[in-house]
Amino acid sequence: MAILKIARMGHPILSQIADPIADPAAPEIQQLVAHMLDTLEDAGGVGLAAPQVHVPLRLVIFYVPPAPAAPERYHEAGLDEDSGEVPLTVLINPEIELLGDATRAAFEGCLSLPEMSGQVARHTHIRYRGLGLDGEPIERLAEGFHARVVQHECDHLDGILYPQRMADLSTFGYTDSLRKRQDETDEP
Ligand code: NI
Repeated sequence: MAILKIARMGHPILSQIADPIADPAAPEIQQLVAHMLDTLEDAGGVGLAAPQVHVPLRLVIFYVPPAPAAPERYHEAGLDEDSGEVPLTVLINPEIELLGDATRAAFEGCLSLPEMSGQVARHTHIRYRGLGLDGEPIERLAEGFHARVVQHECDHLDGILYPQRMADLSTFGYTDSLRKRQDETDEP
C-alpha cells in the first residue's frame, strides 16, 4: 500500500498537458495505478488523474458511487444527476466526444482543492474511449454524474482545473460555508 502525495492547485504539474502512455502493460504503469488506487481510497474522492500525483501521463481512475453516496462527495451534485453506479475504472489515453449541446451546472470538488466546491456546467451526454489497464479498448456512453466525473478527470490531463470552467465564481468557496448558505436559502 502506497499513498501518493496529491498536488494542490498552483503546482505547475496541474497546468501541464500530459503525455500519452505508450504501453499500458508496462510494469511502471501497473505500479502507478496500484498506488493511485490506494491514494484514491485513502483520500475518499471519486476520481484521480495521474498529474494529481505528479505523473504527467494520460491516465485517470474513477468510481461513480450509487446515488446516496454521491451528494456527500460532490456537495449537492448527484442528487438529480444520478447515473447509477459505475465500477472502478482505469482509463488510459482517454478521448471524449461531446454528444449534443445540453449542459448542466452542478457543484464539483477536487482532491487538488481540498475542502472547496464550485458550480461547473458540463455536457450532460458524452461518449468516451480509452484503454483499460489490460490494454483492451473501453468505449462507453455516459450521462449525468458519470459524464461529469469523466469530463472533470480528463480535464486534468489537459492542465485544466474546475475553477477554470466556472462561469460564476460567486459559487466557488469552502464546501462547509457553501452548505450553510444553501441551508439558509432553503429556509422558508
Ligand atoms: Ni480533480
